[in-house]
Amino acid sequence: MRLILLGLPGVGKGTQAKLLAERVGLLHVSTGDMFREAAAAGTALGKQAQEYMAKGALVPDEVTIGMLLERIAKPDAAVGLMLDGFPRTIPQAEALDRALAGQGTQIDAVLYIQVPEAELVARLTGRWSCPICGAIYHMLTKPPKAAGVCDACGAALSQRADDQPATVNARLETNRAWTEALAEFYGKQGKLHAIEGMGSMEGITARLMDALARVPSATQKA
Ligand code: AP5
Repeated sequence: MRLILLGLPGVGKGTQAKLLAERVGLLHVSTGDMFREAAAAGTALGKQAQEYMAKGALVPDEVTIGMLLERIAKPDAAVGLMLDGFPRTIPQAEALDRALAGQGTQIDAVLYIQVPEAELVARLTGRWSCPICGAIYHMLTKPPKAAGVCDACGAALSQRADDQPATVNARLETNRAWTEALAEFYGKQGKLHAIEGMGSMEGITARLMDALARVPSATQKA
């Protein structure tokens, strides 16, 4: 099964992708995580990506598409994909469709998580995450057991530089039109499932699982 989690910054793509990928047995691929890892490693790709991420802009398609297609061509992607943060533009979606068609596969479903923008600002500006294992927290809605320390691996938690209020607004502005265009693109393919993204994290996981149960290829493999 090959799935896309679509939605504006902060709707919960990363939170839900980690849970769903494990539950359904898919490889979780986050282009945001890949860019942050490259930036932390100080590679040329990371330095280039960092310039765009710091402004709340998209990393150019020429860079992003090649990186993603290389990742999903690796043997461990054969189990199936949970794509988080890709595609972000129509050229990315078209390149993905072409690459998967070349492998004799396709996207099975696009889960479009929707949350009002005022809530997204509160979610992103209160987010803390673990730079070692990637666990995601929120100071109000999902605090760690000990302040500033990851429950899962004990590392010190940090805030993303692009979660400052001004950059959050720039990210929402950047992504709004593209997200709507992608919803239309996959809607025309009959693959779009709209998911209400307000409520408890467990409740949203249940809604996503319900939507997946209606995807023909998911039912065949269950
Ligand atoms: P990326 O890392 O993909 O960021 P994003 O899309 O902006 O999404 P986020 O990771 O900020 O949010 P999320 O939806 O995963 O929410 P989360 O689960 O963390 O991309 C970063 C940058 O990289 C981009 O700006 C761009 O520059 C570049 N980039 C990446 N991909 C690219 C591409 N394809 N093309 C070009 N450039 C690209 O949750 C957020 C918070 O809310 C957390 O604190 C969480 O605990 C909390 N939360 C989650 N669910 C709930 C709930 N139900 N109730 C209350 N709180 C909740």
